[in-house]
Amino acid sequence: MSSPVIYIVYYSTYGHIYTLAKEIQRGLVAQGAEVKIFQIAETLPEEVLTKMYAPPKQDVPIITADDLKNADGILWGIPTRFGTMPAQIKTFLDSTGSLWQSGALAGKFTGVFFSTAAQHGGQETTALSTITYFAHHGMPFVPLGFAHANMFDNSEVIGSSPYGSGTVANGDGSRQPTEKELAIVYTQGENFAKVVKTMKQGAANLEKPEVDTFSEGTRADVTESVETKEEPIKTETQPVKQNVAKKSEVKKEEKTKWWKKLLCM
Ligand SMILES: Cc1cc2nc3c(=O)[nH]c(=O)nc-3n(C[C@H](O)[C@H](O)[C@H](O)COP(=O)(O)O)c2cc1C
Repeated sequence: MSSPVIYIVYYSTYGHIYTLAKEIQRGLVAQGAEVKIFQIAETLPEEVLTKMYAPPKQDVPIITADDLKNADGILWGIPTRFGTMPAQIKTFLDSTGSLWQSGALAGKFTGVFFSTAAQHGGQETTALSTITYFAHHGMPFVPLGFAHANMFDNSEVIGSSPYGSGTVANGDGSRQPTEKELAIVYTQGENFAKVVKTMKQGAANLEKPEVDTFSEGTRADVTESVETKEEPIKTETQPVKQNVAKKSEVKKEEKTKWWKKLLCM
């Protein structure tokens, strides 16, 4: 099976989200994902950005709506604006109408990570404000959950929530992502890659012709039906019949195991 292709799509004014994007990439790659990072196009005029003391953008390709078709999973990096996503990200998402119409993103896993100035500046509301887009596109949202012990550590300010990982930047942007936050970010990358990988592998398995796996059982089934035509009450065919039934049970169990594995992640 080919590696899962995961896109990290972010917008960042002051660089915190970009730092998180690089870390989440490390977690994804550690789990065998092929990762591409894209940024979302700026919509503010240069004059306004100068007044905001925004540094130059990173040398990262700008995403187009059509690019999204090529990913198996997409993670979005979002710096909070008034407790929700910035207009730049909303503008980009509003340009995905034709993808919605064709169902191009349906079934692609997705998740978010974020940054706020303040500890209580809206990390959770920012994540939740993205859900309507994902629901309309039919994209399964993968939450972080309480996947890392640092999320229970109340001894200092630590960004993140069950909806995704995050950092707290301070009003002037002076605080950089801490080691504890980065560890959570990395874990989100690892867990997301595991989910997408499992889905891709499972889908590939389901596409395989079924006769290959249980060809012996299938042959016995055919033999039995031929024999049954000639001698309907022939008793030696009975054990074979039972054997076939067991094999199909095993096959069903294997498929169930795959779903269980996916749901427990
Ligand atoms: C117009 C505007 C609105 C903002 N609204 C919030 C907010 O509601 N809550 C908050 O904690 N931070 C808010 N911030 C701070 C940004 O979230 C912060 O600068 C960002 O997370 C830093 O990420 P970046 O370095 O990747 O740009 C706001 C910033 C701007 C420019």
